[in-house]
Amino acid sequence: MYYATRSRLRLPCLALLCLLAWTLHPATALAGEKPATKAEKKAILLVTFGTSVASAQKSFQAVEQAVKARFPGVETRWAYTAKMIRRKLADQGQVHLSPAQALANLAEDGYTRVAMQSLHVIPGEEFEGLKETAARFAGMPKGPSRVEVGQPLLAGAEDMLRTAKAMLAHAPKERKAKDALVFMGHGTHHFANAAYPAMAYVFQKLDPNVSLGTVEGYPSLEEVKAELKARGNKKAWLIPFMSVAGDHAMNDMAGEEEDSWKSDLGKAGVSCQPVLTGMAEHPEIAAIWLDHLQEALERLEK
Ligand code: CO
Repeated sequence: MYYATRSRLRLPCLALLCLLAWTLHPATALAGEKPATKAEKKAILLVTFGTSVASAQKSFQAVEQAVKARFPGVETRWAYTAKMIRRKLADQGQVHLSPAQALANLAEDGYTRVAMQSLHVIPGEEFEGLKETAARFAGMPKGPSRVEVGQPLLAGAEDMLRTAKAMLAHAPKERKAKDALVFMGHGTHHFANAAYPAMAYVFQKLDPNVSLGTVEGYPSLEEVKAELKARGNKKAWLIPFMSVAGDHAMNDMAGEEEDSWKSDLGKAGVSCQPVLTGMAEHPEIAAIWLDHLQEALERLEK
């Protein structure tokens, strides 16, 4: 029959064509190897909330120097997650990019694999946003084929112990044993806020005169005040538990206003001495972020 003859002919022809196409295609993967591509170009994107305080920028410079020393020759760029801060700095003529803008620029410049390192303290809202941005950018046409996000500072119990030890090692030399160390973290409504009471616990295991509170989460200044009172601390050193000694540290913590931590604790009979150093200025703290960056770079190779 006419119909049968045609289909008998057509099938072998199709099969032959498919076989030809398959063997000639450069991406043919007999042993499951990846298609041959041009050389991958790797970059590091350091991502912070950002700061509008010029003197706090030195924290970022310290991190950048450490990154360049540990990963020499890898293109390293910055992005700020806080739109409010990007706008404020833009008004002063300083351009800072969002993570998405920075990724787009990296793609434009031919970078195919990007390790985005979160310089945030906890895996909260900012970090989640970063992971979402990374997931959407990876594999975009003409974009980077892979984007991996490095964990923030406190990604597990080991990070917490390392952080506590490093911060205690950097306690002011003039501190006496009975002086309290009061760390001020940011705090959030996000579940990751749980890292702060966890850190307070770790600190107190190492040094019973340490307290940790947050500006916007739990524990608050009220809990800190109650702890100082119960322990009879008459003096406290106020230290930012944030990557930079920025606006919160200078105003909410160390400011002269009535509601600053310094004033509030002062009224409660605790004389306070603020220390305006960002956590990122300490090499042992930067090293934790860098370890997380190394893990992200290693995931890019897989
Ligand atoms: Co804030």
